[in-house]
Amino acid sequence: MSTRYPCCGNRRGSPTTDFYISIAKNFIFNKINLNMTSQELRREFLNFFIRKGHKIIPSASLIPKETDPTVLFTTAGMHPLVPYLLGEKHPFGKKLVNIQKCVRTRDIDKAGDATHLTFFEMLGYWSLNDYWKEESIKNSFNFFTEILKLDKNRISVTVFEGNKDIHRDTKTAQIWETIIKFPKKRIYYLPTEDNFWGPTGQIGPCGPCTEIFYDMNLPICGKNCKPGCHCSKYVEIGNNVFMEYEKTDKNKFVKLKQKNVDVGLGLERIAMIMQNATTVYETDLFLPIIREIRKYTGSTQANLKSERIIADHIKGAVFLISEGILPSNVERGYVLRRILRRAIRYGKLLNLPKNFLNSLVQKVIEIYQNVYPEIKIKQTDILTVIQNENEKFEKTLEAGLKELKSQIADCKFKKIKNLTGKVVFDLYQSYGFPLELTKEIAKEQSLEIDEQGFNEEFKKHQKLSRTASSGMFKSGLADASERTVKYHTATHLLHQALRQVLGNQVIQKGSNITAERLRFDFSYPQKMTEEQIKKVENIVNEKIKENLLVICREMNLENAKKSGALGLFEEKYGEKVKVYFIGDPSDSSRPVFSKEICAGPHINRASELGHFKIIKEESSSAGVRRIKATLD
Ligand code: SER
Repeated sequence: MSTRYPCCGNRRGSPTTDFYISIAKNFIFNKINLNMTSQELRREFLNFFIRKGHKIIPSASLIPKETDPTVLFTTAGMHPLVPYLLGEKHPFGKKLVNIQKCVRTRDIDKAGDATHLTFFEMLGYWSLNDYWKEESIKNSFNFFTEILKLDKNRISVTVFEGNKDIHRDTKTAQIWETIIKFPKKRIYYLPTEDNFWGPTGQIGPCGPCTEIFYDMNLPICGKNCKPGCHCSKYVEIGNNVFMEYEKTDKNKFVKLKQKNVDVGLGLERIAMIMQNATTVYETDLFLPIIREIRKYTGSTQANLKSERIIADHIKGAVFLISEGILPSNVERGYVLRRILRRAIRYGKLLNLPKNFLNSLVQKVIEIYQNVYPEIKIKQTDILTVIQNENEKFEKTLEAGLKELKSQIADCKFKKIKNLTGKVVFDLYQSYGFPLELTKEIAKEQSLEIDEQGFNEEFKKHQKLSRTASSGMFKSGLADASERTVKYHTATHLLHQALRQVLGNQVIQKGSNITAERLRFDFSYPQKMTEEQIKKVENIVNEKIKENLLVICREMNLENAKKSGALGLFEEKYGEKVKVYFIGDPSDSSRPVFSKEICAGPHINRASELGHFKIIKEESSSAGVRRIKATLD
């Protein structure tokens, strides 16, 4: 089965290699060693697994589909595969491979170190109830040592030490030792935090894992330094997850119907090793951006962290905007706002000119346009969104400066030499002032800042926001998937009813489902009238009463489009897709009500939904409305 794969670009020739070589020639400081460009690395990886019988699946959207509403972004290649890890049949078979764009918000504050990134690409491969531990470990190890020719002596591995629910993974350690002939002294047992992976949300597939580390030949950071340590000596380059469990809403781990292997390797980190770099920022995936920043600043040690944060964040922002996300104060939009504003702030710290982000956007596009063409297509939107946000943020910064000046005056009046941690944190939190910026301004006025106090406030806040975000999607979903599935089917009815009442220009812009309600965002420029809301509600309830059948048909994308199925066609679907019909397409006596391309899952008959009620209609962002609705 053939498939469209965005990462490969043109498979007949190799323009992409030329492209990277041309970048290399342009390096101002040409320290990079292009032993293997990132594009060659992508290709070697895919080819290796194709030779081993895997089928390529395209990189999915950064916005997860409703299959897992507890997470904001696609954080790993397995994310879009959840239904198949749980037992659904994948149209491409049991052995899959891909390169997935990912965003991990928990790493935002770590960006700027050697290896943590907000946006990254994951080289992933899967066995869905096909081969198991031994073959997957061999695959990963052979890819690293035979294809990439990494030094075996610098590799070490970790395995799961066990916990009260799941036993120690001695089998995996034994495979490393006896089949791979890996030295026992470099096999480490680590606890759940390190060697048990998933689920991505609160429930779902998960399992013990074995991680592969590469020694960067740096000195150890202390006597406990070993793989899993957070200094940059041991870099995790691969993770084989043995997904045979599912975490349930009751906080229990039950065995899945099938045994899966989910493997992820970090492209940027491997590129770093292949290109003899010491941080991901010195690879071809980052250098053009860093070089652009240095056109303004020159290269000084003191700027390193700021320029890396800017480079990481602008990349994340470009990809998020290309998916249609706009800066806002909630959820995905908030993450985008946060990284954009952080990039702007650090730009100020480096005295970069106003609108410096525009030329960096250009660099991000140059690096990725042959791999993810959508960012080139969306270039104008991306630049507009960034410029608008820049202007809004300027105003906030002005207000922050006023506040800071008044705090400084207060200190001087009271003859205090320190800005308190609380003041510094408030400036950070409410006005987006980085610690370093406040410190610098305070210093100009011969004041110090209470850094320790700031850190304490910061920790307090982190704890609070962790609690808030785990409550954000309420356990809900869990109590149980049956309810979530009902809400999911209800969104299809709602989508179609909205189109009937408001017109066919209405299209889904987002969806979030908990056990308590559905939330549905759609394009429409103005507030709905009471009458329109009532009409939509009535149509949905009529269709429920008609007890329409919900039917899934697999078909190729072209036929799905021809059938008139709704879908977000800017996204990359595989060649085969599932279309969910509400109303039986083979029953010519009654028209089908809704047709949507969707991964599922859904209920079987509309009558299972009960009564549908719209509880709120409000604005979500410019040109996008939001409906919250319940079933009872
Ligand atoms: N899901 C695992 C990870 O993200 C392996 O792909 O590390």
